[in-house]
Amino acid sequence: MTTPSLLILPGDGIGPEVMAEVRRIIDWFGARRGLTFDITEDLVGGAAYDAHGVPLADATMARAQQADAVLLGAVGGPQYDTLDFSLKPERGLLRLRKEMDLFANLRPAQCFDALADFSSLKRDVVAGLDIMIVRELTSGVYFGQPRGIVEEGGQRVGINTQRYTEAEIDRVARAAFELARKRNGKVCSMEKANVMESGILWRDVVQAVHDADYPDIDLSHMYADAGGMQLCRWPKQFDVILTDNLFGDLLSDVAAMLTGSLGMLPSASLGAPMENGRPKAMYEPVHGSAPDIAGQGKANPCACVLSFAMALRYSFDQGAEASRLEKAVEKVLAEGVRTVDLMQSEGESPTSTQGMGDAILAALD
Ligand code: NAI
Ligand code: MG
Repeated sequence: MTTPSLLILPGDGIGPEVMAEVRRIIDWFGARRGLTFDITEDLVGGAAYDAHGVPLADATMARAQQADAVLLGAVGGPQYDTLDFSLKPERGLLRLRKEMDLFANLRPAQCFDALADFSSLKRDVVAGLDIMIVRELTSGVYFGQPRGIVEEGGQRVGINTQRYTEAEIDRVARAAFELARKRNGKVCSMEKANVMESGILWRDVVQAVHDADYPDIDLSHMYADAGGMQLCRWPKQFDVILTDNLFGDLLSDVAAMLTGSLGMLPSASLGAPMENGRPKAMYEPVHGSAPDIAGQGKANPCACVLSFAMALRYSFDQGAEASRLEKAVEKVLAEGVRTVDLMQSEGESPTSTQGMGDAILAALD
């Protein structure tokens, strides 16, 4: 078996700071668990602009297309605000997503017991929560034509079009079912088939993919508005939630905040399977480059660490090692180790980015 390849793009602001801790953890897996990766590190965002005058060099794009997985820190910073739109750091990230055709965005909502009091919901409702939202990312109302603001009968009209092809629904449904097989075998698909034709098609195609190729999965359907209520009422009824771009945008943000801090939230974006059967994949924390705390050693590396855990599970078939890493994070939190974003009172003294990395490594040992 060839050594799997991993492209690491630390990016800007706190990106390189949190990624440095992930590098130490990757080294631990190499030394202690015999898990080695062929790692290349490269530039994205403002860091790439500073070096090459563009937010993503063509050579980096080519490396991303070849890699078994991409792990990205964060991009952006106030020093790039005045750049032309096409040169902004975020364009580097968008180019990666677009050219790799990453159509399935995975946003877990996982509530570590030690952080359950961070939630706006009751501890019982969220403690131990571990669900996954699969959001379609490359189509739907954010991309459908026609769109724009037009003049009609003496007033302006804003237009966006929800549009999904069977093929677009089919591929994201498969991604969700594959994921469910690596989790608890349960998918709830959400749309508004009661009022939208695109929702009727969505439900129809998801059911057909299920019946043909994933009959082992427990599939249910729910209207997305009811789904929003159920997420807040009793989120533990779900495992994988499959939904479109617009509803997924809303539902994943709701689900994320059931569980606490931005510094804890990982994500993955998956594309079509490559020749080796692995999906094209990019893993990244949900947070940005946090210029307000960059360079101060204050950033919480957990979101990036947990993004690497997702890579272990979903790109490298190392579910047991992913759990090992997630359990180490859980243990550290239970011990009361807190970066500044996880503080609940003024009196506590926070640990540094590196301190959190040290604690995770110690827990892994
Ligand atoms: P942000 O996520 O960078 O920061 C929001 C707040 O959360 C800040 O107060 C920050 O200090 C805190 N925070 C974020 N991550 C943290 C962590 N790991 N540990 C501790 N505290 C953390 O979002 P913001 O401020 O809106 O954007 C800053 C820059 O990041 C902008 O240039 C924006 O365009 C970019 N951005 C990039 C993203 C990406 O690379 N995927 C996503 C979101 C924003
Ligand atoms: Mg959003």
